[in-house]
Amino acid sequence: MKIVITCKLPNEAIESLLETYEVVMWEVENEPMPRKRLLEEIQDADGLFTNVADQIDKDLLAHANCLKVISTMAVGYDNIDLEEARKKGIVVGHTPGVLTEATADLTFALLMASGRRLVEGMDIIRQNKWKSWAPFFLTGQEINRKTIGIIGLGRIGLGVARRAKGFSMEVLYHNRSRNEEVEKEHDAKYCELDELLERSDYVVLLAPSTKDTYKMMGRDQFIRMKNSAVFINTSRGTNVDEDALYEALNSGEIFAAGLDVFDSEPIHSNHRILQLRNVTVLPHIGSAAIETRMAMARLASENLRNGLEGRPLVHQVK
Ligand code: DGY
Repeated sequence: MKIVITCKLPNEAIESLLETYEVVMWEVENEPMPRKRLLEEIQDADGLFTNVADQIDKDLLAHANCLKVISTMAVGYDNIDLEEARKKGIVVGHTPGVLTEATADLTFALLMASGRRLVEGMDIIRQNKWKSWAPFFLTGQEINRKTIGIIGLGRIGLGVARRAKGFSMEVLYHNRSRNEEVEKEHDAKYCELDELLERSDYVVLLAPSTKDTYKMMGRDQFIRMKNSAVFINTSRGTNVDEDALYEALNSGEIFAAGLDVFDSEPIHSNHRILQLRNVTVLPHIGSAAIETRMAMARLASENLRNGLEGRPLVHQVK
């Protein structure tokens, strides 16, 4: 059987695939397989090993004549046309669980960096603009004992809540539905979205990308937030109206934002949001810790092998 791997991976992460199948792997570091090549390779592939950088859409799947399994090295699968895959009898696997802690770490790091203006401080030193210690120079927002509002309290959200408790923060959350067990265990309080936005000092967006969450953070939501509030997004860029976020940051409607994800990735360096002083940006690296990425690659390999050999996937997208 033939499998296509759209990104370069270390051999030790995909040993079992290399031993068993004919593997076509894109060999260029840090770049996805070009669409044209993927369209060619997918035609006679039985398995596809993909990630969030590829668009597995209707057009691509129309070229797949014998594809049985799509395995994405990610927890999110909004880049995959699930309906089309289902119609063609293709099963889809993903990698929840193994990236929870690394992504929660990065989310909290971004929260701290944005609240306390860490990157601005580094830029000032690099540009030789640091004149002296001064009482209100680069003052940010405290974190300890503040209120954090988590939109989307799933695995990663709970990881962020645990970290927040270490900083004696009050934890509010908003989900589609309330979970009283989780509330007791994590001392988190359920709020309607508007109340969460009004009360939180840090608003952390971790909702999956669906048609219901598309641009769920827009002008009305940013207006509800405190002027001192910090907004963090480590979910998907499509969950945010970037024009509204730009306006909110530029007008001082909110204090700062930390973003690991964007509406269109990679974001171009001339994007106007990058001109703002109060935005901290990262190139979608929530899960980018070495051990985590190895675990994700191994789990994605196992999903792919299980699917190709007729066994249940470890994590199949429902
Ligand atoms: C995911 O897993 O969905 C992330 O966005 C990439 O690690």
